[in-house]
Amino acid sequence: MTTLARAAVLESAGEAAVIRELELAEPREGEVRIRMLAAGVCHSDLHVRDGDWERPTPIVMGHEGAGVVEAVGPGVTTHRVGQLVALSWLVPCGTCRSCVQGRTWACPDSPSYRHTLPDGATAFRTPGGEPVRSYCAIATMAEASVVSAAAAIVMPDGTDPAVAALIGCCVTTGVGAVLKTAAVPPGASVAVVGLGGVGLSCVMGAAVAGAARIVAIDRVASKLDAARGVGATDGLLAGDDPDATVAALRDLTDGGPDFVFEAIGRAPTAELAIAALPQGGTAVLVGMTPLGDRASFDVYPLVDGSRRILGSNYGFAEPAIDFPRYAAWALEGRLPVERLIDRWIELDGLEDAFAAMRRGEHTRQVITFG
Ligand code: APR
Ligand code: ZN
Repeated sequence: MTTLARAAVLESAGEAAVIRELELAEPREGEVRIRMLAAGVCHSDLHVRDGDWERPTPIVMGHEGAGVVEAVGPGVTTHRVGQLVALSWLVPCGTCRSCVQGRTWACPDSPSYRHTLPDGATAFRTPGGEPVRSYCAIATMAEASVVSAAAAIVMPDGTDPAVAALIGCCVTTGVGAVLKTAAVPPGASVAVVGLGGVGLSCVMGAAVAGAARIVAIDRVASKLDAARGVGATDGLLAGDDPDATVAALRDLTDGGPDFVFEAIGRAPTAELAIAALPQGGTAVLVGMTPLGDRASFDVYPLVDGSRRILGSNYGFAEPAIDFPRYAAWALEGRLPVERLIDRWIELDGLEDAFAAMRRGEHTRQVITFG
């Protein structure tokens, strides 16, 4: 029996995503079928849609989602029908140098990056039989998806599906950048540049870490209020002059914050994050720029002041450990993830959501499936 699923399909980068009804293969050995409940719209989806990063097409979009297990493939014992799962956009290969050294989040050979199931098969095809890939092998912007069981992380009872969806990307990326990549200690001063789902998750992570000062920076004033609502102690409206932002940030943090997180993905704000550092300070680059973008910094003060620049992919995620942990913290109220969501849309509202994101209008827009 073939399952039909409506899905947001990118047929060619730079063009609007279109909603198509596709055929979904049955789950095979090691695979599960997920009935999607919620999918977040992340800036990385916009990068893909706009062609900032080269990705194969046609492809079903979305990499931040959660749903229920609807069917399991032959021999699958790790999952049961009816379980709520958050989907991981990176299933490490397990054998490359990064994986062997225990840095699975840095795996370059993940089948997820081929946007197919591990053996190269595609879960979706058009009614005419043309294969359609799944973005990061999970394709969350579809009513249903067939994924590797390893990508489907079972959530604790009582977890809100939309919260689970956000744990799949922005929460793990931002909270993990603070707690795992940077290991921010209690009492530190922190600044976060860019307050979308990723930046607000950095703010939440800094609050969990016990940072004494959390300065939230954006060019959109409403984002500063959103950040205060999830733990920021100060808001700083960024204007067109980065030097003025750096000066204001230094004033607020006794000469510069111990840690600055860049959560936009722009070279100028990466440079701002590095320029704002005091002696011994650390800049953590979390936002992903278009491919090929370059940034520069003054070398002498970096060395002389023992400053550090860290890259953080997916918050150093070990999804099977981190997703349930972050979900438990959300249930306890330590991570107020639900406050990140400020707009609910349906699948056919995706292009409108992208337009709003370009204007910096929402904290997190979430697709629900009716
Ligand atoms: N100065 C200050 N804030 C800015 C600037 C700027 N020059 N440009 C953009 N912003 C703000 C926007 O107003 C918005 O609040 O940055 C925020 C970015 O948020 P989103 O577009 O919602 O992005 P998000 O999904 O959080 O992703 C951020 O992380 O994973 C990566 O690819 C992703 O690079 C992206 C980044
Ligand atoms: Zn994302």
